[in-house]
Amino acid sequence: MGQSASRNPDPSDLHVGIIMDGNGRWAARQGLARVQGHRAGALAVHRSLAAAYCFGVDVLTLFAFSEDNWHRPPREVATLLEIFEGFLRDEAAWLRSSGIRQSVIGRRDRLPRSLLEAIEQAEGSTAAGRAMDFRLAIDYSGREAILGAARLVSKGSLVPEEEFARLLAAATHAPSSSPEIDLLIRTGGEQRLSDLPLWEIAYAELYFTDRMWPDFDAADLAAALDSFRRRDRRFGRILELAVS
Ligand code: IPE
Ligand code: IPE
Ligand code: MG
Repeated sequence: MGQSASRNPDPSDLHVGIIMDGNGRWAARQGLARVQGHRAGALAVHRSLAAAYCFGVDVLTLFAFSEDNWHRPPREVATLLEIFEGFLRDEAAWLRSSGIRQSVIGRRDRLPRSLLEAIEQAEGSTAAGRAMDFRLAIDYSGREAILGAARLVSKGSLVPEEEFARLLAAATHAPSSSPEIDLLIRTGGEQRLSDLPLWEIAYAELYFTDRMWPDFDAADLAAALDSFRRRDRRFGRILELAVS
């Protein structure tokens, strides 16, 4: 997407994505039900969002529920959806006062009515926020997002990359063109993408941590950002100094 080799976003240009994994194992280790892990996970969302805001992150995308997570037991799914709704309702006021724009990306046609209302209220009341973009991915699939964008392309037309990113955003209800992720963090020890971001991570720096999501805190985010800043992002090029 036309990056220059010297592109090295300062924190105010940074898009961080987090695959928040490990709630169930965190709970099991303490003899708790999985849903207790999800409740603790919601507190970690607040903590991480506040930390990202303090660290000057420009866009934070948190992957909360994948398309394949519908295959979990109905009670777990129902509790997760309730937690999302409660989170959106509880956080909207401070997001608004902090200038944080909330959006929810993913499919909407399978979400319960009350969750949809909470999403629309949170998005509406924080729409003017310019300090930071906070995107929560619910019922999200990277492949489905790309297919959705492809369906919006007129038959036979050639679509420039920037336009495709715009269609991708439209297909997932994102408020603005799908921004590339600079740093993708996955907690919980697994080193995979689980059909979450695909298009947006073409040149993302990947950071995997064994920390279970409910334990993730500001120090963990700081460590990930520190690792990111030490990476040499070349975007397929070589340093001009190395040309002989
Ligand atoms: C992530 O934690 C939350 C969601 C996927 C909704 P998990 O529920 O996947 O926790 P583990 O991986 O089973 O520990
Ligand atoms: C990824 O975790 C989903 C989210 C964190 C939203 P999963 O627990 O669903 O992924 P797998 O099953 O380990 O690949
Ligand atoms: Mg998991």
